[in-house]
Amino acid sequence: MDVFVEIIPGTHARQLRVVEGNRETRFHALWLRERSPDAETLDPRTGQRLIEAAALPQDLALTGAACDGETVDLTFSDGHRARFPWRDLHPAPPAGAIHEHWDASLAIMPSADFSQALERDDALSEMLEGLERYGFVKVSGVPLTLDGMMPLVERLGPLRRTNWGGIADVKSIADAYDLTMTQRGLEPHTDNPYRDPIPGYIWLHCLSNADSGGDSTLTDGFMAAKRLRRDDPDAFDCLTRTSTRFRYVDDDAHLESEGPLIELDPRGKVIRVRYNNRTERIPPLPPEQLERYYAARRAFFALITAPELTLTPKLAPGEMLIMDNYRLLHGRTAFRLSQGVRHLRQGYVDRDTTASRRLTLRRQAGISLHSLEESA
Ligand code: OGA
Ligand code: ZN
Repeated sequence: MDVFVEIIPGTHARQLRVVEGNRETRFHALWLRERSPDAETLDPRTGQRLIEAAALPQDLALTGAACDGETVDLTFSDGHRARFPWRDLHPAPPAGAIHEHWDASLAIMPSADFSQALERDDALSEMLEGLERYGFVKVSGVPLTLDGMMPLVERLGPLRRTNWGGIADVKSIADAYDLTMTQRGLEPHTDNPYRDPIPGYIWLHCLSNADSGGDSTLTDGFMAAKRLRRDDPDAFDCLTRTSTRFRYVDDDAHLESEGPLIELDPRGKVIRVRYNNRTERIPPLPPEQLERYYAARRAFFALITAPELTLTPKLAPGEMLIMDNYRLLHGRTAFRLSQGVRHLRQGYVDRDTTASRRLTLRRQAGISLHSLEESA
């Protein structure tokens, strides 16, 4: 197979072309120079940069490029020489999409066993990979104690504390300070969009459930957004561009934050959904704009409540859902207690903490993360 590198002519020698068979990648001279794998440029222990990248000559060029199949040997107009392992400049093509969008036909729910995930790295890794792929995982065998989830939380990192404390009760009480603490059903929602940052993952642990009702509902917000984009692009566009507000107020707290119901990254990919009817307070935008917004929100609501898109597991005592709160919409059906209590416990864990454990477990297992960089 053809393997070669060459400086692209006609670009002031500021681009390198790397070719393997029919795959070709181009790199900018500054990009290569600022990550040169030598001890003057990058600290060997941490991999962190020692030179100031912004102080490199703006017109830095490549003056030489050679490859022996193992190493790419480059020289630059500032006199620097860099040797990159070939594979670092030619990573394997990216594997298939890591997120699998699902609907009600999802055949097998991602699941995990509490004590296995607690005791075995491979089981914890599998749990976190499932969570990343599907946006949720159902864990069984959680101890039936108030803070039963805690040892597993501690396998990842700190629990996020809020004004409600650490792990908090979800059960109906007489003087409910939040509608979650009643016997009402809860429409599909994401939790606490009035916080900043919004809680990354929800850990919802069942100690006891209602005899009838109190079933959970789960909808993949990324799937719903994809459908909306396909079927009603105007509505999709409106929900990505309108920043709405969310607010929670009680005697001791006043929490407010804002953002769109569907959030895109700069490349147009859906990266977060928000939906919380109970706490949304859209500002008094011009009526024409609100007209469009209300129609769009209605279209999105129809999707997130559609039975074809909704899973309805009922949590039994000792079961727990871990949910990606930037992707999943969750809810519950109403219940009426004639006896007993419905008692769930809920905790939040941040996104960076969760991703960090997943990625370090991958590294331990020898699964390569990426070579130089995640491909663009
Ligand atoms: C909540 C919530 C789910 C349930 O409290 O935000 O989603 O099953 N509860 O009670
Ligand atoms: Zn909730």
